[in-house]
Amino acid sequence: MDKFVIKGPCKVRGQVLISGSKNSALPILASTLLFDETVTLENLPQVRDIDTMLNLLKSLGKIVQFSKNKKIVKISNSKRPKYFASYSIVKTMRAGILVLGPLVAKYQKSISSFPGGCILNGNSGRPIDLHLSTLKKLGMKYEIKNGYIHASSKGKLKGRSIKFPTISVGASQQLIISSVLATGKSLLSGLATEPEVKDLTNFLKKAGAKIKWVGKRTCRIIGVEKLKGIRYSVMGDRIETGTFCVAATLTKGRLLIKNFDPKLIQTELKILKKVGAKIKESKNQILIQGPKKIKNIKNIVTKEYEGFPTDLQPIFMVLLCKADGISTISEKIFKGRFMHVMELQRLGAKIFVKNAKALIYGDPNFGIGAEVMSSDLRASAALVLAGITSKGVTTISRIYHLERGYEQFEQKLRKIGVNIKRVSG
Ligand code: UD1
Repeated sequence: MDKFVIKGPCKVRGQVLISGSKNSALPILASTLLFDETVTLENLPQVRDIDTMLNLLKSLGKIVQFSKNKKIVKISNSKRPKYFASYSIVKTMRAGILVLGPLVAKYQKSISSFPGGCILNGNSGRPIDLHLSTLKKLGMKYEIKNGYIHASSKGKLKGRSIKFPTISVGASQQLIISSVLATGKSLLSGLATEPEVKDLTNFLKKAGAKIKWVGKRTCRIIGVEKLKGIRYSVMGDRIETGTFCVAATLTKGRLLIKNFDPKLIQTELKILKKVGAKIKESKNQILIQGPKKIKNIKNIVTKEYEGFPTDLQPIFMVLLCKADGISTISEKIFKGRFMHVMELQRLGAKIFVKNAKALIYGDPNFGIGAEVMSSDLRASAALVLAGITSKGVTTISRIYHLERGYEQFEQKLRKIGVNIKRVSG
């Protein structure tokens, strides 16, 4: 298993190009199950979760063809669609559950494994009850046997008014995709409004779906007979953008971050300005300069969009380890998402967690290199940033987590001045 070895401290300088959003591409890929015609997607990131989703689509009978430079992918139908989403593919990725709805919507049946993915919530797990209960309201019947969801519907799914009791990104995407070919009208409320949900509705609308956002969290969908094949470019990755913004702020560096619309991460940029970063926003790029001294900040709370994203919580925690004073972060989405804390402590961080709230005693001289281990995708990125700012050598194991979601992370970091290498074993 590969490891990263980082010699710090490093200062980041230069330019970085943001990749396509994994979290946007995954539901868009799942929704291609609704199509008969070919869909061409641009700006897909080359990361393992995307490979997994493409393998899943192939196993469901889709034909997947890449352009020479692997930047464009065409997804078309074979004559033999299948309905079996196997455990062996779905176990590594939460978004595997997103094929359930479209399979039932298109073919009226599916046998899908329970999904895997990052363990973000300790023993509470990551339930899929909202996916199942809302699909049931559209007319899907299901039974759970041997770790598989055996689902079917009598004829097409039926449009309904459905209100989510709590906000879920994945369940919102699942229900939107599944309503597009349903008969009649759906009014879906209590939806997540993350930019990745909007990218999905933009994609489906371009393909002929009749979707209209009629309120902040409400979509009206009128079922159509079929979707037309289109070419679409997936939006940029806002978590990758946030990660590089923190890298610059943390290391007193200066970065020009390209290919991302700063309007989509205003909450994060406000926090970075508060801790002292100088930020210049322009169309599709951000120029960010880290301060001499990072100020502490109280009461960061993770929330649904437009609130502060849970995926950036571990990454901002590293920044606050280096701040001058005490900071707090409350985790409201995945209350057990603090696996990185123990690893940051190995580098010298003083963090105390109680009732899903972290109290961070910042120290401008944080950290000292050590051996640490990744526990999940975003925690891995946090440990890399911590290694960059720490004195001496930091070795990070289990970096396969990181490869699920960051495209060419080490190459991008090396280009902006980080002393990072990959070693095997
Ligand atoms: C997506 C993102 C993930 C991000 C998360 C929150 C993808 C592939 N993943 O995950 O990176 O951290 O949004 O922004 O886009 N819940 C239930 N029942 C359900 C579904 C969710 O109780 O059926 C709970 C979850 O346990 C969690 C909360 O709802 O506490 C939000 O989860 P959700 O928005 O569904 O996250 P994901 O879509 O899995």
